[in-house]
Amino acid sequence: MSGSRLATKIALISGGASGIGAASARRFVAEGAQVMLGDLQAEKGAALAQELGPAAAYTPLDVRDEASWRAAVAATQARFGGLTTVVNSAGVSIPGTIEEIGLEQFRHSLAINLDGTFLGCKVGVEALRGGRGGAIVNIGSTLGNRGGSIFTAYCASKGGVRMLTKAVALHCCEQGYDIRVNCMHPGAIHTEMVEGYIAAGIAAGATREAVIEGFASVHPMKRLGTPEEAANAIVFLASDESTFTTGGDLTVDGGYLA
Ligand SMILES: NC(=O)c1ccc[n+]([C@@H]2O[C@H](COP(=O)([O-])OP(=O)(O)OC[C@H]3O[C@@H](n4cnc5c(N)ncnc54)[C@H](O)[C@@H]3O)[C@@H](O)[C@H]2O)c1
Repeated sequence: MSGSRLATKIALISGGASGIGAASARRFVAEGAQVMLGDLQAEKGAALAQELGPAAAYTPLDVRDEASWRAAVAATQARFGGLTTVVNSAGVSIPGTIEEIGLEQFRHSLAINLDGTFLGCKVGVEALRGGRGGAIVNIGSTLGNRGGSIFTAYCASKGGVRMLTKAVALHCCEQGYDIRVNCMHPGAIHTEMVEGYIAAGIAAGATREAVIEGFASVHPMKRLGTPEEAANAIVFLASDESTFTTGGDLTVDGGYLA
């Protein structure tokens, strides 16, 4: 698929080196956007940027660090002449029940998933508030909408991302900023994140097929989603096709939350 749905957009995508962030970068460039990939993974990020050509570049980003965010925004503005769009896709999913994980592990997940998205929104609003057609797309999860006993930190972080999105969206409305802020909630999407669970399942004695089937079975559509399906929803929320949509939740979950 290619077109010009994002022809005027300049996006900074956190977590852009892998999975949903990388698929979004591909779709954004295919739709005419210029894209800065921000990620801890320099080699993967730089390789993807090179593959995507002059409309893409890589910059180092640790979403837990405000100075790193500011440097990434400045790098995007310097390279492409502005910024219209922030996609907060960086994230980790580390399992553990309330009895298994300690405060340090809890805070580690929160620092990346929730603090990281908070900082992306904060520097994003600052950078976008004087412009037109701004959009921030946060990545929540089905597990930010309903619980999962082994996903203590992940559920807490993604529930936080969901409500953070609404607070920031309403603030932008109140201030008259042309910035829409929305949250896309994926179900299980076949990325490196899910590959991590598959590897753990195999290490625990399960087959690859059984782990995938386990993930698929909780979705009414009985399969995993693809990174491209998640990216398509992000394209919509970043584009001017969704100009009356803010503070919203868009599910890409095979019916999981229905
Ligand atoms: N894959 C799924 O099933 C699924 C489901 C629901 C939500 N999500 C969410 O979607 C988003 C993308 O996940 P994915 O599946 O593409 O995972 P992924 O592991 O393929 O990609 C995540 C990226 O985030 C980067 N990252 C991690 N910590 C970072 C940090 N501190 N600073 C900058 N970058 C950092 C990683 O290097 C990686 O490139 C995450 O927020 C995740 O929680 C994924």
